[in-house]
Amino acid sequence: MKSDDAGDLGRAHKASAAKVRPFRLADYDEVLRLWKRTEGVGLNESDTRPAIATFLRRNPGLSFVAVKQGRIVGAVLCGHDGRRGYLHHLAVAKRHRKQGVGLRLVNACLAKLRAADIHKCNLFVFAGHAAGMSFWKHNGWKLRSDLRVMQIQLHQDASARLECGC
Ligand SMILES: CC(C)(COP(=O)(O)OP(=O)(O)OC[C@H]1O[C@@H](n2cnc3c(N)ncnc32)[C@H](O)[C@@H]1OP(=O)(O)O)[C@@H](O)C(=O)NCCC(=O)NCCS
Repeated sequence: MKSDDAGDLGRAHKASAAKVRPFRLADYDEVLRLWKRTEGVGLNESDTRPAIATFLRRNPGLSFVAVKQGRIVGAVLCGHDGRRGYLHHLAVAKRHRKQGVGLRLVNACLAKLRAADIHKCNLFVFAGHAAGMSFWKHNGWKLRSDLRVMQIQLHQDASARLECGC
């Protein structure tokens, strides 16, 4: 069992709220461990340390982690292309869910996008991830059923350059 998923949640631990702060590259290893054990988060060549370093450099201060008692309990990536915002990999550790952490992470990102004068934000959810869809719908996000995602591979060797083992 992963230590963060274990029971034995002390009362003092529960009482203190998680702190939401910007995602730094130094957080990478801990966040990757969280993403790897989170359902609905798909990792690929864009999640290696160098790739995340590039993402954070291109989108400074837009991505966030939630920290509780010195441990990262939540994370989200956020960026924009000057037109639309994008959220990726929102994850909250199981024992810290339903305490407002996920929504605080999302709201921190949306505030940054608004400040950058971005008017809309998009995100991707795996078609079979019902709990993820339910979270977004509950919090005001609308499914664009008139759209489909299309993609083309630009590096044929992408999977060979994976460092995260996913
Ligand atoms: C989705 C996830 C990030 C939610 O994190 P969380 O910290 O538990 O969410 P919050 O406590 O901030 O919840 C905010 C609101 O959403 C509701 N909510 C939480 N999870 C929900 C779900 N799966 N379905 C519907 N509503 C949900 C909460 O009840 C709360 O509602 P309220 O404000 O009306 O009381 C977390 O469950 C998770 O990491 N899931 C796996 C990864 C994932 O699905 N990521 C997002 C989809 S790609």
